[in-house]
Amino acid sequence: MIKRFNDGRDWFFEKRFGLFMHWGLYAVNGWHEQEQFRKRLNRAAYTPLIEQFNPVKFNPDQWLDAAESAGMQYVCFTAKHCDGFCLWDTKQTQYNIMNTPYRKDIFGMLAEACQRRGFPLCIYYSAPDMNCKYYPNRGRSYELPGPELNDEPDVEKYLEFVKAQVSELCTNYGKIHGFWWDVNANSINAHDESVNQLIRSLQPGIIINKRGFGEGDFDTPERDFDDAKLNGVQIYTKPTEACESIGAESWGYRTNEDYFSTGTLTRSLTKHLAKGGNYLLNVGPRADGTFPAEAVRILKKIGLWHQQVREAFEQVEPLPLAVDDGNVLLGRKGNTLYVYLLNAPRKSGITLKPLEIQPQKATLLNNGQELKAKVEIMPSMHAEHKAYLHIWDIPADELANEAVILKLEFDSFILDKMFNK
Ligand code: GLC
Repeated sequence: MIKRFNDGRDWFFEKRFGLFMHWGLYAVNGWHEQEQFRKRLNRAAYTPLIEQFNPVKFNPDQWLDAAESAGMQYVCFTAKHCDGFCLWDTKQTQYNIMNTPYRKDIFGMLAEACQRRGFPLCIYYSAPDMNCKYYPNRGRSYELPGPELNDEPDVEKYLEFVKAQVSELCTNYGKIHGFWWDVNANSINAHDESVNQLIRSLQPGIIINKRGFGEGDFDTPERDFDDAKLNGVQIYTKPTEACESIGAESWGYRTNEDYFSTGTLTRSLTKHLAKGGNYLLNVGPRADGTFPAEAVRILKKIGLWHQQVREAFEQVEPLPLAVDDGNVLLGRKGNTLYVYLLNAPRKSGITLKPLEIQPQKATLLNNGQELKAKVEIMPSMHAEHKAYLHIWDIPADELANEAVILKLEFDSFILDKMFNK
């Protein structure tokens, strides 16, 4: 079981599926949120985008409607990405939303909508900043190749700039629930505890990720890249929020994006929630302020599935037991076991080795259908000749594009005995 904080940060364990949004000048060209870095553009070649950013269709309620349609309960928004462009009315740099043709405080409008509708709001903030003259650009990741004319690289001054910005964000916009540093601050001064201390003093109960300065509160496995590191880890033992984008190539809006299938996304979501983590799924809004139609469609589709299966993610205790060679995870709530299939079903049945207990009822949560369940010896396991719980009648064809979750209801006695409670 993951240890709670026993303070305001515990909202994080109740609301576990959130919407991530990457938005900024890079939406204009619709290529990638790191356009400036990945195309090695100097400031003169990139910053004029500020003249073109005019999201006249921006309406935070529409974003939150889309989040709600997916079953999401909180949001995390890029106040500043590594290009350094700020989506709030910052006094620390001219390079901000008030100097675009739009001239409205987007972060403030989003914060107002989130607070009105009860959505916890988290701030994404990039530690590297390709625009600030104090940032020590040296050609590392998310940096310019080196300082530009009139820059004054100075880590201490940059930290003061960061603190001043963080203070604005944590003072002027009401309750902020989370702070999401990116990319890790190693290139600056990762051990400076005073930055997170400042955030915590301005926003008591805020939860801070571990990609920033000093100690953070939660881990952030990304895009399943970290799966290898997590090998053998059946369930999370520390607060964790996995993140993934609906598009395979970019987190910002991308015109030629390769969107993941809802089967892939719901299985990824299921895996991390079943392990006891949170899940942040990202959409990059278009330059006009709207979500791409494909994103709206995907979120709705996830939502229809989520409505059917959500009980499997609420107040469920993940069990550290590898079932079916680790292709299946288990969670327990009272007399019920939830069975999360991490892969698309290849057949209409599954043998949940090493489970050998007979449920009173087996249900396919995806559509409420009752399934057949019997502890029996499978012919393919003749060498071992042991009986395991076999579930069948699963409509595998129909479920190819959504994560499959089963609900098994038992005699409490059996589960208590099995899981030593
Ligand atoms: C990756 C991307 C970065 C993005 C982040 C979100 O690290 O490189 O641009 O903001 O994912 O987790």
